[in-house]
Amino acid sequence: MNKITLIVSTFPLITNLDIQLGLEELNKGDRKVVYIVLKGDNKDNLIPLETRRLILMKGLFPYINLEYNQLVSSIEEAKAYYQGKYEEIEIREIKRDYSPYLEGRDFHFPIQVFLTLVNENLYFAAKARKFYSYARYQHVIRVATLSYNICLNNNLDPCLGMMAGYYHDITRSASSKNQKLRVEEKYRDIFYNNEKFPLWAYHQFSALEVLDRKFHIEDKIVLDAIKCHTTGDKNMSPYAQILYAADKIEPGRKWHSEEFIKMMMTDYKSGFKAVLKANKEFLEEHSDKGSINNKMTLDCFNCYL
Ligand SMILES: [Fe+2]
Ligand SMILES: [Fe+2]
Repeated sequence: MNKITLIVSTFPLITNLDIQLGLEELNKGDRKVVYIVLKGDNKDNLIPLETRRLILMKGLFPYINLEYNQLVSSIEEAKAYYQGKYEEIEIREIKRDYSPYLEGRDFHFPIQVFLTLVNENLYFAAKARKFYSYARYQHVIRVATLSYNICLNNNLDPCLGMMAGYYHDITRSASSKNQKLRVEEKYRDIFYNNEKFPLWAYHQFSALEVLDRKFHIEDKIVLDAIKCHTTGDKNMSPYAQILYAADKIEPGRKWHSEEFIKMMMTDYKSGFKAVLKANKEFLEEHSDKGSINNKMTLDCFNCYL
């Protein structure tokens, strides 16, 4: 092995942009690839080395086989370190503002990175975790993972599905009178003459305020999906349909949803209709009338069933 590519980055996170740069292609043939995270990198040095390694390695697609080097602090040092050992040294520098990923405003990284950050409770996960009980947190992680896979199978952006799934219940545990009043005030068009709206569905609206104020999330596709995830609505986007369904059929739910998951993976449109129909039947049998007799749910049934 006499050729080496040094990928020099300021942070050990692989994003989808890095993947698009063709990192996986580099590893073919007789070329060795070393991923270097420069030392002395401001706030990120707070992360222990082993965790940094973990984020890096788990974030990679399995076919990328990279080595980690924490010893150098500049491109010149990196060159000097490998000089003499390889006859050809190629340098690829990745310069990126990682703050949207760290703050949870952008989820465009492989799902392995998402799961690692969530498991290690790092960055956006440390912030979001506080909003959830243990059980609810496991639920949103399962919804995020399932939505990711459904999107992937349907040629949609899996990272948007993952993001909507992860944040969808962010205010589920925080129901209060104040929250109810604020929601009714802000969404007057929906609540006007619509007093039968079920109380447990308010969190789909209140989530938007928290996601704006605490996480600075502006992605309309994600926010619109969350805004109707309990009631449904007319004219739902593919991501809204997927979140609605994934929330009801994620594998931790206490009913056999495997068939619905399969349908969603094959074709989310017909899968969504099947989930909606099953949910309608369930609500008619088990719930108070408010769960159905509200404008959004009726609009949804009329539009899709
Ligand atoms: Fe919910
Ligand atoms: Fe949920």
